[in-house]
Amino acid sequence: MIKRHSVLVVGSGLSGMRAGIAAKESGVDVAVISICQPVRSHSVAAQGGINAPLGNAPESKDDSVERHAFDTVKGSDYLADQSAVLKMIGLAKETIYELEHWGCPFSRFEDGKIGQRPFGGAGYPRTCFAADRTGHSVIHVLWERSVKLGVPVYEDRFVVRIATKDKKVTGLIALNFVTGELEMWECDSIVFAIGGAGQIYGATSNALNCTGFGIAVAAWAGVAMKDMEFIQFHPTSLYGNNVLISEAARGEGGYLRNNKGERFMEKYAPGKMELAPRDIVSRSIYQEVLEGRGYGTKENGYVHLDLTHLPESQILERLPQIRELALRFSGQDMVKDPIPVQPGFHYLMGGIHVDENCASQELAGFYATGEGACISVHGANRLGGNSLLGCAVFGKVAGLEAAKYVKESPPVFDAQYSIFDEYKKQQEEIDYWYSGEGKNDPFEIMEEMRDIMKLNVFVYREEADLQKALDSIRALKKKFNEGVYLKSKVRQYNRELEWVFALKGMLDESEAICMGALARKECRGSHWRLDHMKRDDDNFLKHSLVNFENGEGKLSYQDVIITKWQPEERKY
Ligand code: FUM
Repeated sequence: MIKRHSVLVVGSGLSGMRAGIAAKESGVDVAVISICQPVRSHSVAAQGGINAPLGNAPESKDDSVERHAFDTVKGSDYLADQSAVLKMIGLAKETIYELEHWGCPFSRFEDGKIGQRPFGGAGYPRTCFAADRTGHSVIHVLWERSVKLGVPVYEDRFVVRIATKDKKVTGLIALNFVTGELEMWECDSIVFAIGGAGQIYGATSNALNCTGFGIAVAAWAGVAMKDMEFIQFHPTSLYGNNVLISEAARGEGGYLRNNKGERFMEKYAPGKMELAPRDIVSRSIYQEVLEGRGYGTKENGYVHLDLTHLPESQILERLPQIRELALRFSGQDMVKDPIPVQPGFHYLMGGIHVDENCASQELAGFYATGEGACISVHGANRLGGNSLLGCAVFGKVAGLEAAKYVKESPPVFDAQYSIFDEYKKQQEEIDYWYSGEGKNDPFEIMEEMRDIMKLNVFVYREEADLQKALDSIRALKKKFNEGVYLKSKVRQYNRELEWVFALKGMLDESEAICMGALARKECRGSHWRLDHMKRDDDNFLKHSLVNFENGEGKLSYQDVIITKWQPEERKY
């Protein structure tokens, strides 16, 4: 039986919930489909805050949309589309006040105004926060709101294919974990809010379900992957397991020190020190480790994040969660001791290719928002605190645009046949994985993929390593396509099956990352080529696009939208 809603939002993180609310308030029949219960989505792990030029801090009276937008464009190393950035930041204030009015318990200044703290690459303190549990607070507010509005959420479902006809969406296929069966869903419009992709590397601050699978699902339906080579390595993930230690720790005054006790950021970004943008801080840590001034090994080293000079009461009030996380996972109490930190995969600047209305120009009725979408607001390096903002602003935009689309577009004739067709193909693939005919272990392939990506496509990159990575990923894809098997034969709640799907997607995502990184012979933001040590605006002030045809990635480029600020040298 085919289920039907006019708009299907896939993903119940911050952006997906916001899209569902917007579509519902527009009066269309919308539902959210999600791998998990909404308050268990990865948005709940967002710690540090959400940016807006409110000007609440005594030193930020002159802050403005323009200054915030300029910091974002400069932070992006000029790869962000400026019209999209101005749209996001133009909507920032009203977004914060809306969340506040819906009940978000923001931390406050003494005068009662929403508190704002300094974050990396920002000219003024403009990161609003709820202690160091901002994502937790926001997602609960949005969940409550959608319950109030009656937005249905179908949990425990993994969307594995999009059905299309004449380059328009007609529906999707989802794996129901509880029954182990595939479900057919018909719709007029789809919004993908599918989250990040840190599991490609494994060494990540991201949750286990952040495989970026939806980026691949969209690509298989004809929507390009954009700017995939730009990966944000957060400077301060906890050594050993890469649990996030929020930038808020440095915003509150924390220092980074090498094994000589030096605040080494003095050498790399004297004007901003620990609050330089993340790409710069990560490279600085990496460089200290490579030159023997870190701890651990050169391959897996770390530096110290030192908060011991801050009052205990400040840590307990502003950073309670990360204090507890560090205590549990490293055994160090940051009130008394420095904690060990290293760069780890935190955020994918690239993702599903959509425009500033979150719309695909390749597939009618298809929209994307949140981390898995590339609306091009973060360019080559995202500023901390702009992620939650992008999720909230563009979640609403995506929901409104999808609702508008379904009101204005005639339904697709005989849509059901395209859905049956995808269902049949998918069922055959699943049955093959269960049959045991495939001879390759998917988990071995996944471990190899992660090792290749971590070793060759990390903070520093060069041609030989990138070529090796691309060749190896293609060889792993071949192995996957020759056949993999499932060890567990159960149909219900088979999480192994989910990983096989995710692996199939992550291999294509990895291929796109390697292709983009190999071809981009310049340094820009998080993409640092040791063999091409300059930014090259003549040749690479462009977005990379990878389309998949018959399983093979094809690379092309699209111009960056520059409306206000010409690229300049980026200094901090
Ligand atoms: O460091 C952090 O709290 C992360 C914030 C972000 O990625 O925006």
